[in-house]
Amino acid sequence: MNDQDVIVVTIDGPGGSGKGSLALNVASALGFHLLDSGAIYRLLALKAMRTGIDLDDEEALLVLLDDFDIRFATGDELAIAFLDNEDVSAELRTEKAGDAASRVARHGRVRAGLLAVQRAFCQPPGLVADGRDMGTAVFPEARFKFFLCASVEIRAQRRYKQLINMGLSANIADLQADMSERDERDLNREASPLLPAEDALVVDSSLLNLEQVTELVLSHIRNNG
Ligand code: DC
Repeated sequence: MNDQDVIVVTIDGPGGSGKGSLALNVASALGFHLLDSGAIYRLLALKAMRTGIDLDDEEALLVLLDDFDIRFATGDELAIAFLDNEDVSAELRTEKAGDAASRVARHGRVRAGLLAVQRAFCQPPGLVADGRDMGTAVFPEARFKFFLCASVEIRAQRRYKQLINMGLSANIADLQADMSERDERDLNREASPLLPAEDALVVDSSLLNLEQVTELVLSHIRNNG
């Protein structure tokens, strides 16, 4: 079976747009595999920070990719991520890791080096891929493409609730400022900036809850499948 036989659904959008929870819902409804590509950038950033590598040093980051030992497992609610066989899930979800991931993600050759890692998730019967450039760069041939957006205020509130539920401390104003800064970086970078694919269905989730967005996406897939 080649990649074309595998149905790929891409869900791109900025942080806090709800794409992570949506991707999880859609993948479990369809019985598909799930790729959280942001987690891969976060893992690389974590490895860089632990090794003491400057996040702006593209050459040094590329060397890290030669020995990039990562693995995911399914937990009760959240996915569990391993770096060098250590469960780093909690550290991975911090704003510090997200911000570092956004800096690592600016480098074009690092992004190119991570393409194969991400494409390896494309396995039968299908894949739901969540990220920033799933529909544009990683899976341009995907059968279904969605781009989820929401206002920065709503996204900051959602991320706040997520962090509090995970037992982490957070401040909404700081989150909103960090998000705006990260949006700016993700939108304006030269390599695969955060943009909807031309053939993506853009969904504004500001006024919709998770169930409504999930239903919208699943009915689009069923009606066009
Ligand atoms: O979705 P997330 O918050 O876990 O992503 C963390 C950072 O990783 C995000 O700010 C930009 C980067 N990223 C990316 O550039 N491309 C992706 N496909 C996924 C994430």
